[in-house]
Amino acid sequence: MINEMKIEKNMRKFLLCNILQIICYIGNAENANILAIFPVRLKSHLTMAMKIAEGLSANGHTVDLYNGFRDGKLGEGINQILVPDAKDMILPSEFIGSQKISIVERITAMFEYINAGNDQCRNILSTSNDVMNKLRNTKKHYDLILIELFLYDCFFGFAHSIKAPIVAMTSSVDLPWGANRIGNPDNPSYIPIYHTSLGKDMTLFERIYNTFALMYGKYRHRLSLQTQQQIAEEFFGSDVPSLNNIISNTSLFLLNSHFSLNQARPNLPNVIEVAGLHIGELKPLSKEFLDIIGDSKFIYFSFGSVFKSEAITTDKLQHICDAFEKLNYPVLWKADKKDIPKGLVVPKNVYTKRWMPQLDILCHPNILFFMTHSGLMGTEEAVYCGVPMLSIPLFADQFLNSKNVQDKGIAIAVELDKVSNLISDLMKELIENPKYKQNAKKLSEEFKDRPKKPLDEAVYWIEYVLRHKGAPQLKSKSVDLVWYQYYLLDVGGIILFLLIISLTVIYKTFKYSLKCMKRKKGVNDKKKQ
Ligand SMILES: *[C@@H]1O[C@H](CO)[C@@H](O)[C@H](O)[C@H]1NC(C)=O
Repeated sequence: MINEMKIEKNMRKFLLCNILQIICYIGNAENANILAIFPVRLKSHLTMAMKIAEGLSANGHTVDLYNGFRDGKLGEGINQILVPDAKDMILPSEFIGSQKISIVERITAMFEYINAGNDQCRNILSTSNDVMNKLRNTKKHYDLILIELFLYDCFFGFAHSIKAPIVAMTSSVDLPWGANRIGNPDNPSYIPIYHTSLGKDMTLFERIYNTFALMYGKYRHRLSLQTQQQIAEEFFGSDVPSLNNIISNTSLFLLNSHFSLNQARPNLPNVIEVAGLHIGELKPLSKEFLDIIGDSKFIYFSFGSVFKSEAITTDKLQHICDAFEKLNYPVLWKADKKDIPKGLVVPKNVYTKRWMPQLDILCHPNILFFMTHSGLMGTEEAVYCGVPMLSIPLFADQFLNSKNVQDKGIAIAVELDKVSNLISDLMKELIENPKYKQNAKKLSEEFKDRPKKPLDEAVYWIEYVLRHKGAPQLKSKSVDLVWYQYYLLDVGGIILFLLIISLTVIYKTFKYSLKCMKRKKGVNDKKKQ
């Protein structure tokens, strides 16, 4: 009896599976199998990937997410596979807040970070990593690969072992070695690059710096790519194509930028700006927080998930705390009690907690300003909610983000080295001058005014790639050109050549006729004598 029931149940399961498979087969874009490769432990980067995975699974797709963190809370349809041997990306602490050192030192320091990507490739793509080995040899069919374009191109090798169209995402603005590899323009005359703190109006000197930084970035990346190519060949076999070629065949590129916050720049149809994609539904603040702020205006202070408050020295933190005490508004400070330096005197109006519902806090109507390190995700949330910022950029793209919000008139920035007892004056200016709030409200409206929500837009374009089997129609022909063809140097050369020939001919003719005329005149003159 029990056996019979079992058989019948299995039978039904079998039939259902078959029907589903048929549906799967017919409606490819409706139920796709997606492989998401995010083995590196970088929380803010993974946040964007997880959101996209959730968006895809909500639309009926299955996502196998290879990930370096053990993170339990994910939607149905997402299979999380923990990648062993993933290590945290370590930020070189001596570069934190490194505004003061010389430009060359700073660029060099920033690009040292590229080597951290090589280490990740070495650790994760090793033959002793069972999970990665299994994935390389998998017979499972995938319709699409979602992957991060950052410092570890080696993982693009999976697009060789698993033949499927690639969707790449970058959780910041475009990198110096980013979307240009699929043919997107990256002219440094007006596009400030990731590692700089340049804004919309660049002086001649700044454009030299920007150009140098772009070229140096490409050069450093090329060096690391050689190492990663080797690692990829050892892992995927020597027949793996050049990683550059795999990347230039990317179908779609999702960027965490938006022209309202960053700058207007030309983008190919397969380069889509989805800044704010991680911003979900707003929830009312819990009683715990409402009890603290009451009816009062308040301040929110957070340095994000990567940097802890210990990144700043005690004396600087004390200046900040003293300023908070002077202003005497409630302050919500996202900080772990155990990380707060022992000698620091935290005033009574400052409330600390390890985790805070940042978006709900930022969108609370009583917030005065957000004290931030200008990480991109937090900046976007503040822009979304229309909140002025006091910015202390520390690393990577934070200087660029900080410059952007200053240019928009919604923030005051201060270098970490310059944090002193004068910081309370900056806070007062932010609170008392209404222009910051007004500009923030305006930018918030511009940031939110889009045809689709950014997550829906990302999902739409990913499904577009699925529907059109890699969507080659989105790809630019420019990737097939050699650099001198792209910059029309061959055409220019020929034009120059023709010009020189014509000018020479004209010159020679002119000279010859002049000579003739002279000779004729000479003869005539002689005749006259
Ligand atoms: C480029 O990607 C498409 C799928 O998007 C694939 O069909 C094609 O084989 C790839 N080309 C190369 C040279 O890898």
